[in-house]
Amino acid sequence: MDLNQSYRSFVLAIAQNETFKKLVMTRGKNFARRFVAGDTLEQALAAVEELEQGGVHAILDLLGEMVTSEAQSREFQAEIVRLVRAFGARPYPRYVALKLTQLGLDLSEDLAFSLMTGILAEAKQAGCFVRIDMEDSPRVDATLRVYRRLREGGFDNTGVVLQSYLKRTERDLEELLPLRPAVRIVKGAYKEPAEVAFQDKRIIDSQYLLLAKKALEHGLYTAVATHDPRIIAEMKRWTAERGIGKEGFEFQLLYGVRRDEQKKLAAEGYTVRAYVPYGTDWYPYLSRRIAERPENLVFVARSLVQG
Ligand code: FDA
Repeated sequence: MDLNQSYRSFVLAIAQNETFKKLVMTRGKNFARRFVAGDTLEQALAAVEELEQGGVHAILDLLGEMVTSEAQSREFQAEIVRLVRAFGARPYPRYVALKLTQLGLDLSEDLAFSLMTGILAEAKQAGCFVRIDMEDSPRVDATLRVYRRLREGGFDNTGVVLQSYLKRTERDLEELLPLRPAVRIVKGAYKEPAEVAFQDKRIIDSQYLLLAKKALEHGLYTAVATHDPRIIAEMKRWTAERGIGKEGFEFQLLYGVRRDEQKKLAAEGYTVRAYVPYGTDWYPYLSRRIAERPENLVFVARSLVQG
């Protein structure tokens, strides 16, 4: 395991500690605001306005995951529908992201599927695309099954995410090809064991390029979701060399990360979207951001001390 992965595993393990969680939830709010647009939908929509001024579009994500009751899943569905309608009333490209465990995937695949159909029907009316984020490895099969069912059921305003750290992903991409999926390629943000996931950053990065290029070679509309300057540069070079137009793919980055790069890519004529999370359930999201980057641990430590 390389240093990056050891750091990541360490942070994701500590994040499970209830005392640490309480401390961050009460004193880490300032730090959270770097990555989270606010507690409310109205604050998220204000962030959309600001991004649009810089030529960057938004992906709105109501934070929430791994719900444990049907009632909670239905509440999330209702809130996401409210989001889709509010976004639909704005003059910007509409795009939301969600997690299937937010819609009860852990309780029942049928429940998550049926709540998704309601969201996608609303989203269609609002001209909104719905990205299904990918969660940790035990949930990948169920997520792909629900996605497949939705596409086979005629819902085409939805897309899936593939993680380059998983050993299975190249095969998943091949199996999805007949559906002509809109894919987002990411490296992967969870703590995964060596049996299922590559642990060496160089391999994860080279798998990333392999998957993104393969998706584009098959003509899939591909979201290249990374902050990695080397991957971004290589994808720009390779697509230009292959004559793949800027309309064939897009770059996606996280809200609060490399803001200048987001605007720069947009000014160069690429479609750029920033993933904008909002809501009060920000702790798991924030833990993953800290785990990605040691500098973020320093920032969070500072805000814990300063309050
Ligand atoms: P990595 O973390 O290796 O960073 C590479 C380089 O990028 C760094 O060396 C640095 O140069 C630069 N960099 C990174 N962060 C920076 C910062 N804060 N400031 C300046 N430079 C920085 N994961 C998942 O499992 N399921 C999902 O559905 C999603 N969805 C998703 C959507 C979008 C839009 C993004 C951008 C990411 C995700 N992810 C995700 C998260 C993803 O898996 C991954 O954890 C993060 O993107 C971090 O990995 P990078 O690709 O940025 O590379």
